[in-house]
Amino acid sequence: MHNPKNKIQELTQKINKHDHDYYYLDNPIITDQEYDSLIDELKTLEKKYPEHKKVDSPTQRVGAEPLPYFEKVKHRYPMLSLDNVFSFEGFEDFEKKTLKLLNTNQKLQYVCEPKIDGLSISLSYQNGQLKEASTRGNGQVGENVTMNIKTIRSIPLSIPYKKDLEVRGEVYFPLIEFHRINKLREEKGLPSFANPRNAAAGTIRQLDSKIVAQRNLSAFIYRVINEQSHQITSQHHALEFLKDNGFLITKIHKFATSLTEVTEYVNWLDKKRNELNYEIDGVVIKIDDLSLHNVLGKTSKFTRAAIAYKFSAEEAETTLEAINLDVGRTGKITYNAVLSPVKLAGTTVRAATLHNADYIKLMNINKGDRVIVYKAGEIIPKVKKLSENNPNKDYSVKWKAPTNCPSCFSKLKTIEGEVDQYCINNECSGIKIKQIIHFCSKSAMDLRGLAINILERFFKIGIIKNVADIYKLKEQKNEILQLEGFKEKSVNNILYTIEKSKNQDLYRFIFGIGIRHVGERTAKLLANNFGNIFSDANISEQDLLKVKDIGEQTAKAVCSFRNNPNLMSEVNELFSLGVKPSIPQKIIPSNGKKVVITGTLSKPRDHFVKLMEANGYESSSALPSNTDFLLIGENPGSKKNKAEKMKIKILTEQNFYKLINDEEN
Ligand code: IVH
Repeated sequence: MHNPKNKIQELTQKINKHDHDYYYLDNPIITDQEYDSLIDELKTLEKKYPEHKKVDSPTQRVGAEPLPYFEKVKHRYPMLSLDNVFSFEGFEDFEKKTLKLLNTNQKLQYVCEPKIDGLSISLSYQNGQLKEASTRGNGQVGENVTMNIKTIRSIPLSIPYKKDLEVRGEVYFPLIEFHRINKLREEKGLPSFANPRNAAAGTIRQLDSKIVAQRNLSAFIYRVINEQSHQITSQHHALEFLKDNGFLITKIHKFATSLTEVTEYVNWLDKKRNELNYEIDGVVIKIDDLSLHNVLGKTSKFTRAAIAYKFSAEEAETTLEAINLDVGRTGKITYNAVLSPVKLAGTTVRAATLHNADYIKLMNINKGDRVIVYKAGEIIPKVKKLSENNPNKDYSVKWKAPTNCPSCFSKLKTIEGEVDQYCINNECSGIKIKQIIHFCSKSAMDLRGLAINILERFFKIGIIKNVADIYKLKEQKNEILQLEGFKEKSVNNILYTIEKSKNQDLYRFIFGIGIRHVGERTAKLLANNFGNIFSDANISEQDLLKVKDIGEQTAKAVCSFRNNPNLMSEVNELFSLGVKPSIPQKIIPSNGKKVVITGTLSKPRDHFVKLMEANGYESSSALPSNTDFLLIGENPGSKKNKAEKMKIKILTEQNFYKLINDEEN
């Protein structure tokens, strides 16, 4: 090698150009493998000649050593949110209100941009180098995710502009990558990610940036902070500035000078959204003149100079091909619709929830009908109603609810006063497999290697017939290795997780066993108050009832489980196979006090809920009159006033820590 310095520079330029081709031009000209080998080559050279390694070398994008936790970052400019409108009239109102605030009837000009459905980030550059990247967090304080952000190839590690600069944008999962990763996960028996936004947010909160590097996230940048200090006077100018400095912008924003033009853009984008390689959930409409942003200012939550115009939840019409039923772990029957494939909010839908038999009867739908489906909460579609478009429907033919279990064909039972039907056959294999799946699930024993499809396969061929068989799997290793798709390594992984789960938390074990009426919360109460409820012989219904929030139904169910020799022998078999759940270190009986949380706290709510539970407090989301404390964060909203009226004691975070006498902060 005659000149390592030149070679390093040449490779760097080549890699940067490929990044640009891939992310900016959507036109990669080399394969991922070829790209990786360029990175490897550069890494080797940099190792040999560290004196020539550049601070903004693309080799940083492969990730670094895992972090123990993320540092907190206080945002110098809070990361606000946007108010929403859902219709043309809503936007018209926004404009009227804005003109009134500005005390003018001059025409407003806007920049309309796609509203990316990802997670917002803030990036700061010093002397042209990316220094820090943080998540939104609660808007005031976020997390330092610089290592992870550096793996994102569409975010420049260095820019030509040298003044201190802070920009904001949205990290997202390109849909091609999202589908690729989900396919890989499926092949490995891992659960798929539910949607690109959650997957992107989960990825950015990974402590191991090497994992992030493998996921090929991307980011659109849409904002310059403190624009005026960079001689930027309009939003369209800001976007040009960002583009010139190598940031990825969406390229499909539009300048609009009237309400009609805004509406045209919203309609155009709504139609186009299915063709995009990223998910969007509306349009962000920003007043172009940035000096007006300062005049308008902000509320505690929103900036007043922009608004999100959300697309309406989509509906679609399709044919109901069949009504299927399924039996759950408690024997409850649920109904699902098989649909002719139809596009709905960007995905192709083939199935929908129908709940129970009454729901179907009420809608008067039947196989072959045209129905309207819609997305509720974006993920699982529902059948909304019969379409008006059913010219040949014979209304006298009514759908009849099946009377037998779809799995074991035994007669179904309806409990008086309940709409649901139940299979009550203890030997039903449909129920058994659901119980096994529940036992292994994330909120129970968390046996990650045993994904649903694997459990179903093992159940079908008889390797697993009940939960105890999970702990006998190591004896079946050779048999498993004969199965297609199982290699020494993957089987060892599964066996390792199983072994580790033997000491899983007690409450997860109690929850996983599936006692009627014992959900996750009750399982925690039981574990905290009684320790191992299966081995202590002297727990009476009265003892159980002494615990606040354990009612008669639950107490009876627990006792009847403990008195059932068949069920108890299954549990004891687990113990004899070495399962020894971890008993909570200190048994913390509920002190019966309820705390309600409201507003934005400095850490996720989950943190406070866990702390409360560990100290015997219970958390609730509503504000019942027996609430003892209201823990308030920023922007506490109406609950605070209500609590004051109800004379409920109000705690700040500091008071709360004092209350539980915990130094953690
Ligand atoms: S501007 C004051 N532009 O939407 C916040 N936000 O609902 C101004 N978002 O937190 C943000 N695409 O995470 C802006 N083109 C876009 C956006 C966008 C997505 C997100 C952003 C923000 C949220 C508000």
